[in-house]
Amino acid sequence: MDSARPHERPTAFDRMLTPVHRWIWSDTDRRVQKLLRFSETETDGGRDILRAAEVTSDPLLRRLYLEHAIDEFRHGVLFRHRAAELLKVSASRSSPGFHGDWLAPGGHGLDDLQVDGESDRNMLAFLHLSEKAAASRFTVYRDVMQHDPPTRAVFEEILHDETFHMNYTLTQLARVEPERHRRHLWRARLSRLWKAYLRLATGLAGMLGSMLLTIQYFVLLPPFAWLAKRAAHRERSGWTMVSPGHSDSLDRQY
Ligand SMILES: [Fe+2]
Ligand SMILES: [Fe+2]
Repeated sequence: MDSARPHERPTAFDRMLTPVHRWIWSDTDRRVQKLLRFSETETDGGRDILRAAEVTSDPLLRRLYLEHAIDEFRHGVLFRHRAAELLKVSASRSSPGFHGDWLAPGGHGLDDLQVDGESDRNMLAFLHLSEKAAASRFTVYRDVMQHDPPTRAVFEEILHDETFHMNYTLTQLARVEPERHRRHLWRARLSRLWKAYLRLATGLAGMLGSMLLTIQYFVLLPPFAWLAKRAAHRERSGWTMVSPGHSDSLDRQY
């Protein structure tokens, strides 16, 4: 699709995180993992938008959703192909290291999309905000990718489509809900904010949990290990005679 206007400017929050994004994308292994995850997100999003095309009763929206879904499937393929090219040159393997998913998530947040039972106006408000977030993040990802021109070109190409998605969803929302489209946008914004908080809290909880377990391992376990060793030294080796009074009963273990 052609974009209706040039690229969206990234939000202040995404701009503020530019050094973090630069660090996350600097590692080739991490880049491969993130591109593969982005590919899944785009393809899943495309599937949901295809479902939205099936359930809407608005013929214009159905056509736009279909084109939108095709774009998202194509984005999935572009990300996957780029990840495969990087894998070839880096001989990377799937590593369980830090990928910063909650700091540098896939563009859309389309994974939160619930298609069935949603009205057109809710769907358009959700899609508009998701595409706006995607355009903002992909602008930053493209800008920090100077060291990898082919990946940068992939983001550049996808960004073009995301900007169009962002614009058409807003135009259509204003068409189907001319009076109250701003209210729907705010409601969708609050819902996204809540989900973003949950995602951040889950990421932080994971990090804090790992830190606490590591501290426990190095601080709490050594005294117990030392006590167990000392107790083991005190034990006599071999069989030990039991005093006669302690072995009267034969119907219990101790
Ligand atoms: Fe996309
Ligand atoms: Fe999109």
